[in-house]
Amino acid sequence: MHGKVLIVDDEQDIRLSLRGILEDEGYQVVEAESGEHGLAAVEPSIDLILLDIWLPGMDGLQVLTRLHEKHPDIPVIMISGHGNIQTAVQAIKNGAFDFIEKPLSLEKVLITSQKALEFSSLRRENRNLRLNTKGITVRDITGQSGVIRELRQAIDQVAPTEAWVLITGENGTGKEIVARSIHIKSKRADQTLVAVNCAAIPEELIESELFGHEKGSFTGASGSRQGKFELAHQGTLFLDEIGDMSLKTQAKILRILQEQSFERVGGHRTISVNVRVIAATNKDLLQEIKKGNFREDLYYRLNVFPLNLPPLRERKEDIPILLEEFIHQLSQEHNFKPLSFTREAVAVLQNHSWPGNVRELKNFVERLYILYQGQEVTPAMLPGEISCARMQSGLEPAGFQDGQELPGDFKQARSRFEAWFLDCKLKEYDGNISRLAEAIGLERSYLYRKLKSYDISTD
Ligand SMILES: Nc1ncnc2c1ncn2[C@@H]1O[C@H](COP(=O)(O)OP(=O)(O)OP(=O)(O)O)[C@@H](O)[C@H]1O
Ligand SMILES: [Mg+2]
Repeated sequence: MHGKVLIVDDEQDIRLSLRGILEDEGYQVVEAESGEHGLAAVEPSIDLILLDIWLPGMDGLQVLTRLHEKHPDIPVIMISGHGNIQTAVQAIKNGAFDFIEKPLSLEKVLITSQKALEFSSLRRENRNLRLNTKGITVRDITGQSGVIRELRQAIDQVAPTEAWVLITGENGTGKEIVARSIHIKSKRADQTLVAVNCAAIPEELIESELFGHEKGSFTGASGSRQGKFELAHQGTLFLDEIGDMSLKTQAKILRILQEQSFERVGGHRTISVNVRVIAATNKDLLQEIKKGNFREDLYYRLNVFPLNLPPLRERKEDIPILLEEFIHQLSQEHNFKPLSFTREAVAVLQNHSWPGNVRELKNFVERLYILYQGQEVTPAMLPGEISCARMQSGLEPAGFQDGQELPGDFKQARSRFEAWFLDCKLKEYDGNISRLAEAIGLERSYLYRKLKSYDISTD
């Protein structure tokens, strides 16, 4: 098993000889000459850290503590000189994986490094298994586009901190996946993630749902009950659709953010909790603030670490990888014969606007599986609303499919194109004429007349 190793030691000779030993075995090596530089050099791709105990400035134990706080998953092996075995033992108590003594023995360095890497990968697997048995799928978000790479990096940075996070993005862009991925990469991963969909709970019940209630506090409250905030104690609370929360509830949330305490509905006892909140919304909260529906102070408190998920149409280059992933996933889940797409069909899919984003793409692959499992899908096999995208992908002249005769004059050709274009676009906008008019730059009433004149159904 190979990986990337960071060596933190002030002695150049030691760094050089460790580098030699590790590189010969196929490891990649990064060096730092002080604890401060070492901390700055840690990034998500580092798999193992070799850390000297005696360092000028911040010493090894202090660096270890900081590393443990910020990157609990990276194993650390201490390098100890003569006479500081005691400190090395202390380091292990503080979470170091093991220590190696100077003068360095080639064999010991390699064996210890390998064991540390195996241990951390086992621990990760174990944790994933445990979470999987709780019904939580563990995963990074898929995609190779610049925005998704940056997002993955931001997730890795914010996850191990205690910061509250606000995730924004259109429907189906992957907000929930991101929330779960932050939890799993956080120090709270062993505790639960409690998810609450604020939009799905009736307004009168949301406070009791979040904060719990005491017996008799409202009609139907026959016993006292813990709320989600209590259930998420030590763990993470995922407040989905936070834009749909009432102002009163927002005020209470703000107070928890400041004091980490609250009272149950109908109760007087103050309950203290330690909860990390990850919130998500598909609404534009700044707009909601202007309309008076969202508290500005809560927004700024939550927005300390904002993560925005771009719509799929702005990262079309991810579509082929997502297709592959969903094809693989579905064929495993349902034992389908694999499905494939011709290059042209992929191009058409990349030009579709996917208003329902990744979720729509996934459902689409599922639908095609049912129709065409074991086959290769060509543009002609794609459903109507998707094939609108053909025009933009330049694969076929608009509205002039195979076998159709070309119209004799320009006016006829234009009408046929217009009818085809409007029909496709209307499907794309789910029959919403106002939105379509705005999107294609026509007056609504003009568009309406056009649709009527082409007999395009508007209901
Ligand atoms: N980057 C991605 N990689 C793999 N699957 C993804 C990705 N993004 C989204 N999905 C899948 O798309 C679907 C929608 O994702 P998710 O529920 O996280 O979206 P959401 O933003 O919370 O949507 P909504 O606003 O409708 O609640 C899920 O099935 C998820 O597995
Ligand atoms: Mg969601």
